[in-house]
Amino acid sequence: MDRLELPRPDDWHLHLRDGGALADLVPHTARQFGRAIVMPNLRPPVVDVAGALAYRDRILAAVPPGLAFEPLMTLYLTPATTPAQIEAAAACPHVVAVKLYPAGATTNAEGGVRDLDGLGPVLEAMAAVGLPLLVHGESIDPAVDVFDREAVFVRETLTRIVDRYPRLKVVLEHISTEEGVDFVRDAPPNVAATITAHHLLYDRNAMFQGGVRPHMYCLPVLKRARHRHALVDAATSGEPKFFLGTDSAPHVRPTKETACGCAGVFTAHAALELYAEAFERAGALAKLADFASRFGPRFYGLPVSTDTVVLERRTWEVPPSYPLDGGELVPLRAGESLAWRLVTGPMRVV
Ligand code: NCD
Ligand code: ZN
Repeated sequence: MDRLELPRPDDWHLHLRDGGALADLVPHTARQFGRAIVMPNLRPPVVDVAGALAYRDRILAAVPPGLAFEPLMTLYLTPATTPAQIEAAAACPHVVAVKLYPAGATTNAEGGVRDLDGLGPVLEAMAAVGLPLLVHGESIDPAVDVFDREAVFVRETLTRIVDRYPRLKVVLEHISTEEGVDFVRDAPPNVAATITAHHLLYDRNAMFQGGVRPHMYCLPVLKRARHRHALVDAATSGEPKFFLGTDSAPHVRPTKETACGCAGVFTAHAALELYAEAFERAGALAKLADFASRFGPRFYGLPVSTDTVVLERRTWEVPPSYPLDGGELVPLRAGESLAWRLVTGPMRVV
């Protein structure tokens, strides 16, 4: 197969940052995706509808002319979030979910949640209004090994949330382990997961190939090969619980290439191409359209795009860097070639 046409996909987990970075980042995603769920981990975080709407306007101002791109906004769950804020979010068509960061688990997660039990009324309100909880599923117990944090969170925390709030829609974001896959697979249909391209393509060896590779460091961290195999199996299984979320997470070069580098892999420049590579390796290209374009809208109760995009087998070289906020970022596969190329077909004009 040398050409693949699919409904315009959506990215159900994305970091766009803010300020001057938006003009550099939004075009990468708007070229490929019709919609994206935008993470709220700014500084300060996006905690209410007013903040989300103002952020949405700044994103829309950075959409290149001729592209129709819809940012779907999220609120950052904090210990101070109230049921009234949840009801306000549910009444706003542009806010589609609430993000749970265990406190300190990842980039800009300092304001996250330590005691989930204290947020019972908020989670009840979310279940009642149908607002999904998007979960960064990693334990924040410092005694837990970094490679075990997802499995421990799933076992000790997520199981409890799903049991206690059976109507709550939950997305375990960027799953990275066999335990994560098994949990989601066995859970009721209100529980789903996103999977990144880099977790489908790489295992933890990629972080140490010939030396330490800071641009391969993200959270949740890449795991052993058997976990990658479980993720590939889930993504290509045709089960509607597993859908696309890039977790493309840009950082300027000096904050990655340093003694204590930030977590995040940037894939928005070639997201679909990277997923196509992973699906092709698994002999499952025919399953890509469901994973990338249909299962996410189904879970969120949104229409599948009527627009299409085309992937062609055409080798191209990823640039060594892209501009980011006056500096530069190093994308995944910088200076290397990719086998698939997204053909920017006729666009819906706004
Ligand atoms: C993300 C970021 O940089 O905002 N980093 C990452 O490694 N994925 C945060 C996150 O999703 O954990
Ligand atoms: Zn993320």
